Amino acid sequence: MRQLYPPDMLVEGFMTETIRGAALAYGFEEYDGPVLEPLELFLAKSGSELVLEQSYLFTDRGGRQVVMRPEMTPTLARMIAGDRELHLPARWMSFPVCFRYERPQRGRVREFRQFNCDILGSADVSADVEVVLVLDRIMRNLGALPDTYSIRFSDRRLASAVLGRLGVPVDLHPAAFRAIDRRSKMDDEAWSEWASSLLGGYSGAVVQFSSCSSLDDPWLVGLAGGTPEWEQLRVFRDMLGRAGVASAAFDAGIVRGLDYYTGVVFELTDTGGANRRAICGGGRYDNLVGMFGGSPVPGVGFGLGMLTLRLYLETYGLLPPGVSSSGAPDAYMAVFSPLERPYATELAETLRNAGISVEIDLGGGRMGSQFRNAARRMARLALVIGPDEAETRSVTVKDMASGTQQRMTAVEAVDRVVAEREHQRR
Ligand code: HAM
Repeated sequence: MRQLYPPDMLVEGFMTETIRGAALAYGFEEYDGPVLEPLELFLAKSGSELVLEQSYLFTDRGGRQVVMRPEMTPTLARMIAGDRELHLPARWMSFPVCFRYERPQRGRVREFRQFNCDILGSADVSADVEVVLVLDRIMRNLGALPDTYSIRFSDRRLASAVLGRLGVPVDLHPAAFRAIDRRSKMDDEAWSEWASSLLGGYSGAVVQFSSCSSLDDPWLVGLAGGTPEWEQLRVFRDMLGRAGVASAAFDAGIVRGLDYYTGVVFELTDTGGANRRAICGGGRYDNLVGMFGGSPVPGVGFGLGMLTLRLYLETYGLLPPGVSSSGAPDAYMAVFSPLERPYATELAETLRNAGISVEIDLGGGRMGSQFRNAARRMARLALVIGPDEAETRSVTVKDMASGTQQRMTAVEAVDRVVAEREHQRR
């Protein structure tokens, strides 16, 4: 299970704010849901592998079988189905903590935070494009260069159409999708053996289709060119291109592992070798909300792993140096002796009321050690309270970089601290 120390939380906060800012530019609203869910929710919706092999599943005190959510999408679908007043299309985002009982390794842990971003109530290709635009903007706002990540996409409708034309019976398509999804995750020999046991002679068709990396591949065009499935994906690709997304490319090897996807599917990965796990995955799911009763509501969206994103940002040196010092207070207050504490506390509150962050020393050591604490906390200014300051209701402001000191009133101190803060921001 994850534990984040304060420096980790600063990075988490930086990523969260950047992501939220990008999504707000597209009008997304934030929601949240329960961490614990009934087993049936995921069994019927996500697919049994995720639930029975990778979930924390237990019986609660009331005898109910419950799951610590391995993902957010089924919960989202239930919430959408349950809100009859909701104006659609809805653009919803969330930052859920999720749990999967996977073997921990780089980029894969048992408790992780995910950014989820979904549009519900639009079956139009524009909605598919819109969520990918959010994803690409997040990456660009984080400073990622287009050649360091790729957004590979395909479409389950196209995959089904092509497999059908290759003679693969419809009832084998779910197994074929599973085989395509696993192909890049297993070694060739083991995959071939497993795929043959699953699909018999049809595994050759799966290999042929999933090796396609261009929509304009003559073999693919010969089979599916001009079909509605192929046309729709071409429109999707062209719209992304016109909107300036340089990192997106067709890859028939993408189908995604979750059962509910029905259309466009995509994954974002690091193009370098350091991070193998996908940073983000998503797609269209037009039947999920309808499974909760009521009218069907089409959906499309993605989940972006905060850990996988962090590893990517570290790999490319994209975490700004300021992130590690952004937890520093505006000023650190050093107090000469217990006698001055009441005045120091009163003054610190006055400054905080004026919007300044003040950390007051609680150690009560010598002044030298209190100044060292101020430096360790990366405060630019120390506010010194000794007997004279307490008597005259003033404060001595010490510039930690130059060492210069100046006695002033509380009102002047507010101006001084604010000026220093503005100076740092510039
Ligand atoms: P997913 O591909 O299972 O999709 O997860 C999305 C992302 O969450 C992954 O690409 C990865 O970065 C991160 N992630 C998943 N498992 C772990 C783990 N064990 N440790 C660390 N990070 C992990 C979904 O969950 C879908 N519900 C996404 C979605 C939303 N589709 C439509 N809307």
